[in-house]
Amino acid sequence: MTDMNAINAINAVSAISAISGGNDLVQCERLGRHALLVLNRPDKLNALSYALIDALMARLDALETDPAVRCVILTGSGTRAFSAGADIAGFAPDIAASPEQALRRFLQQGQAMTRRIETFPKPVIAAVNGLAFGGGCETMEACSLAIAAEHATFAKPEIKLGFPPTFGGTQRLPRHVGRKRANEMILTGEPIDAASALRFGLVNEVVSGADLLPACLRLADRIARHSAIAVTASLRAVTRGINLPIDEGLAVEAMQFMVAAASHDAREGTSAFVEKRPAVFRDA
Ligand code: COA
Repeated sequence: MTDMNAINAINAVSAISAISGGNDLVQCERLGRHALLVLNRPDKLNALSYALIDALMARLDALETDPAVRCVILTGSGTRAFSAGADIAGFAPDIAASPEQALRRFLQQGQAMTRRIETFPKPVIAAVNGLAFGGGCETMEACSLAIAAEHATFAKPEIKLGFPPTFGGTQRLPRHVGRKRANEMILTGEPIDAASALRFGLVNEVVSGADLLPACLRLADRIARHSAIAVTASLRAVTRGINLPIDEGLAVEAMQFMVAAASHDAREGTSAFVEKRPAVFRDA
């Protein structure tokens, strides 16, 4: 770990304990070149109320246009939950009102949030600090990368409420883990542990609870040493191409390459290799 990383990691741990339980529904802390977002309803296991979703979207809007922020780390307040999913008490009246109202207020808002995270132009790293159930699991699936604490658990309990997952879980989970594993989680509603999530490809790494934020920061720093333009182009190529037939995906790749190839950083990266010197990226 570099000195800067070590300082970041220590700051992260103290930041999260300092901000847990504060008033904002989504806390935001700057950690060097990265931002830490904390879903902050610990007494409700960080359930995603409509107001919390609005707050998260507003935080993402601000971070997107801040050139100083390279990666976003998303976690939950406390150590019990990343998020227990959509706020059942909050959306129950919409289900009771009509399917159309539930679609408009509950499903569409949740889908918009997970899609916003999935298509965010900077890496969003989920720091899964506890249970990630329902919309919490779907939020984690939408992130570009995920690291879980060893006590984290993952579940799709919507079936117990009488409907299928609604924030993109029926679509993203099978793409992550395969149809049969996804069906088992979706149809039983039963949780899996962090080791299984790692084995299934749902998370990148499992670490101790104490190492969770430092591990996320190390990953963020490994990315941030590269050109910001190349990072965004790579994210867009993967996210836009993944659901396309291969020829259309290759066209997306070509388009993103053209964006990066026109940058100072691409000229600098290739020249530096030829000249046997470290690259100095303008956006890194
Ligand atoms: N929406 C709203 N509130 C929630 C919630 C959710 N998704 N998940 C938990 N909470 C609230 C509980 O109502 C409780 O609030 P209270 O203390 O005011 O009664 C608090 O968070 C703690 O949860 P509790 O159920 O007491 O904890 P537990 O350890 O007994 O159980 C879970 C933990 C996650 C198994 C359980 O809370 C649960 O099943 N939650 C719902 C998960 C779900 O179905 N998510 C998908 C929603 S579409």
